[in-house]
Amino acid sequence: MTFDRSIKIAPSILSADFANFGAECQAIEAQGADWVHVDVMDGHFVPNITFGPATCAAIRPHIKGVMDVHLMIAPVDPYIEAFAQAGADIITAHMEAGPHIHRTMQAIRAAGAKAGVALNPATPAAAVEYLLDMVDLVCVMTVNPGFGGQKFIHSQVEKVRQLRAMIGERPIHIEIDGGVDPVTAPLVAAAGADVLVAGSAVFRGGSVNDPDPYGANIRAIRAAAQAV
Ligand code: DX5
Ligand code: ZN
Repeated sequence: MTFDRSIKIAPSILSADFANFGAECQAIEAQGADWVHVDVMDGHFVPNITFGPATCAAIRPHIKGVMDVHLMIAPVDPYIEAFAQAGADIITAHMEAGPHIHRTMQAIRAAGAKAGVALNPATPAAAVEYLLDMVDLVCVMTVNPGFGGQKFIHSQVEKVRQLRAMIGERPIHIEIDGGVDPVTAPLVAAAGADVLVAGSAVFRGGSVNDPDPYGANIRAIRAAAQAV
């Protein structure tokens, strides 16, 4: 993976057909997705359950580009190796998922993946200050994690601005997750975000048999973000 700050659209397969992940990943990449965002939930850290490392390993061969794995699980550390083995390019863990996020970031890089840290809406930007030299991505949750289709929390735009200033020239992506659509994308792009996760706003109106709407949705989000 090379680093740049161009706008990247990362569809979340949380909004895909769960019986058809392989074809869905191929469809969104063919329709212009930059990264594929994979939401892992445990029913403990968040009030919803999705899937684990075996599913990530199964979909990996269907993704040509970056597999961006967002772990909404606690604890995290016992599972890092399994997600790295499953082929995750980026593994993101939550600041709030345990007392030793510094160790978790070290463990992700030691496992050979890029390390991401995610911040829930109530967690301040300053929480990542002492991690900035050991992370590749900061994910700003613009909804409370657990479900797709929630409303964007506008207070987080200021957090993105603060993070962008803190990061400076460091090669760290700022990713936005939750409620991203053509209306909210320009707000976070202007504040300094470069990776835009979108679930419902990408998958709405399409299917593996009719994937053109995915492309139109991706282009609409990208165009809105690039217009700022
Ligand atoms: C929320 C997940 C998101 C979610 C985004 O817990 O981390 O990735 O799928 O879905 P939308 O874009 O529908 O808000
Ligand atoms: Zn996510």
